[in-house]
Amino acid sequence: MTDFKKLAGKEIADIVPYKPGKPVKELERELGIKEAIKLASNENPFGPSPKVKTALKNFFPEISRYPYGDAHYLRTKLAAKLEVPADMLLFGTGSNEIIELAIRTFLKDGEHVISPAPSFSVYSSIAQAAGKTCKWIPCKKDFSFDLDAVLAAVDEKTRMIFIANPNNPTGGYTGDKKLRAFMEKVPSDVIVVFDEAYVEFADAKDFPDTMKYLDAFHNVFIMRTFSKAYGLAALRCGYVVADAMAIDMMNRVRQPFNTNMAAQVAAEAAVEDAAYLDKVIKKNKKGRNYLQKEFKKLGLDFVKSQANFILVEVGDGEKVFNELLKKGIIVRYLGPGLAKYIRVSVGTMPENEAFIEQLKKVLGK
Ligand SMILES: Cc1ncc(COP(=O)(O)O)c(C=O)c1O
Repeated sequence: MTDFKKLAGKEIADIVPYKPGKPVKELERELGIKEAIKLASNENPFGPSPKVKTALKNFFPEISRYPYGDAHYLRTKLAAKLEVPADMLLFGTGSNEIIELAIRTFLKDGEHVISPAPSFSVYSSIAQAAGKTCKWIPCKKDFSFDLDAVLAAVDEKTRMIFIANPNNPTGGYTGDKKLRAFMEKVPSDVIVVFDEAYVEFADAKDFPDTMKYLDAFHNVFIMRTFSKAYGLAALRCGYVVADAMAIDMMNRVRQPFNTNMAAQVAAEAAVEDAAYLDKVIKKNKKGRNYLQKEFKKLGLDFVKSQANFILVEVGDGEKVFNELLKKGIIVRYLGPGLAKYIRVSVGTMPENEAFIEQLKKVLGK
């Protein structure tokens, strides 16, 4: 027998596999029900812009052709929108691939990444898969990032720091003043990746406009995605804005056709439809306010969210998660580190109301 575990090595065998939210169809099959509700993966419940659907239909006859390796048209369009030169942009198969490209390009043997915790677990699984490590620095009691502790953990082997803003799974954020003060202290050869997967939903007055950081701090990477507010999760398209030399280096590492053409076409149409994005953001805000108000009424503590999900304290998170599953509602239980919590994505209003109704039953309220 071939021992593949041994062949892969300890670093690979020790990776904790990413556990995605349960798909709706899977739960419906298990329970024999028809209308399960998924509020587990921070997706856009309203779907993409109608312009995306038209663009995909028009694109269909072209699927026998390779995609544009450099995502030329999408890159040019987005660069104009973001007001940056097009050579400061690179696309990936979801922002997950950007995380991987950044780590593979810039981390040498023995170097590591740092992230406040709890945050997006993929930082450490990708680092580990590349034979590197991720140092998790616990955040404060209120779930705000302890950036002094992050700075204290930086040593000569630190190459990259991930700052998710808004953070997942808490939904909280780090304000402009705190983030700038942090950036002033980070050595210039340590890359700081702002993971802004949920940035479109953030509306706090002091939420940082990190595009403005790029001139002052050349070590800043701004990573975003079309999976959330733009509603294109299935197509896998994310991007990073960074110094042109950094992009040049990552371009050498990425696969020649890494971003598929359906994703490029759809993302281009999505970027053009600012009015639709605006509607999605407004609907999310309404749903987020509704859920937070209901949690207050129920006497449940939660982290005030700047994203499209909320971390709420329910007592026994795993039990509540399982009880909700039985009622056809999929939320997220985040493991023993956040045992008292569940994370719920903001859905459509009927979905939000159904969730609250079932949560009340589960909690006996
Ligand atoms: C904080 C954060 N970063 C990155 C991602 C990756 O998103 P994608 O690969 O779909 O762009 C996610 C997805 O849930 C996320 O929550």
